[in-house]
Amino acid sequence: MAKTYNIAVIPGDGTGPEVVREGIKVINAAAAKGGFRLEFTEFDFGAARYLKTGETLPDSAIEEFRKFDTMFLGAIGHPEVKPGILETGILLKIRFALDQYINLRPVKLYPNVETPLKDKGPEHIDFVVIRENTGGIYTGHGGATRIGTSEEIATQLMVYDRRTVDRCLKYAFELKKKRNAKDPKYAAKPITLIHKRNVLTYCGDLWYRAFEEMGAEQYPELKRDYNHVDAANMWFVKNPEWFDVAVTENLFGDIITDLGAMIQGGLGVASGGNINPEGVSMFEPMGGSAPKYAGQNVINPMAAIGAAMMMLDALGETKSSQAIEAAMIEVMKKMKSQAAGRMGYSTTEVGDMIAELVAKS
Ligand code: IPM
Ligand code: MN
Repeated sequence: MAKTYNIAVIPGDGTGPEVVREGIKVINAAAAKGGFRLEFTEFDFGAARYLKTGETLPDSAIEEFRKFDTMFLGAIGHPEVKPGILETGILLKIRFALDQYINLRPVKLYPNVETPLKDKGPEHIDFVVIRENTGGIYTGHGGATRIGTSEEIATQLMVYDRRTVDRCLKYAFELKKKRNAKDPKYAAKPITLIHKRNVLTYCGDLWYRAFEEMGAEQYPELKRDYNHVDAANMWFVKNPEWFDVAVTENLFGDIITDLGAMIQGGLGVASGGNINPEGVSMFEPMGGSAPKYAGQNVINPMAAIGAAMMMLDALGETKSSQAIEAAMIEVMKKMKSQAAGRMGYSTTEVGDMIAELVAKS
């Protein structure tokens, strides 16, 4: 019997359902071709449900999610919901509860995709950021006193323990080893730790020592580099070709991957994976719910299709994910732009063209 993968789908808000639909279309084509089956189960978590019932994501849903092979998320967010509620109540809750401790964000400029960087092309922008995804400032340690007075104090702590740092670094070193074996152009570049150890003398020191120790003891053949996060921002723009695998803590990773998304052509093409290498992962386009484009069939589904491709790769369907990437590249060559409303095609057409190419691959 054909291998079956059970996938939990949260289409979410705004344009989320439209891009998820195209992602599913493409991986269904890949499954038909690759001889495996995909079973999708939809969940309606998101702003609409919250506004109706006051519920973000019950604990019982987490228990449900554990039974799936993987998860696919569209976008969460709505102008009428106060910032923070859906983010912590849904997205961060899933990341933490399912221990998705890696946030994998490829920064890859494809041919014919426009980058705002002058004189940079696909040969310069092809790296991945590994963002630690369960620790740091995101843990919510801290508090506030004397709230509302002129003496108000607020703290928000960056919390890291050695195990959390080590497991993230391990993933990064292993990925670097794989990329080096794949292509000498990657092997020529270092693995880069990004932090701010000149100021964050405790957390930065923990990350730096752990990185140096693991690198020297377990991966002596891999070149190591270190950048302060402010300088890394500068290099992402000035010399993105220096990077191959960059590993960093949670908040820094959040910030630099938005910059990464822009240099690879914008949120229309940026995908990410929230990965628990031993458990249930969740893949998502990096863009938000883009409410102003919702329901118009003009949003770019490329990021969602890229996320779906990463999902198949993580499931071990490497050949299928490669076929999807090849099809995405062909279609990107035909598109006028990767920006919503300016693609020269509708959302559905982009998905159709990629699915067709995958079917023919
Ligand atoms: C991201 C987002 C989230 C984050 C928000 C929505 C909580 O910006 O996935 O990068 O900060 O991690
Ligand atoms: Mn972010």
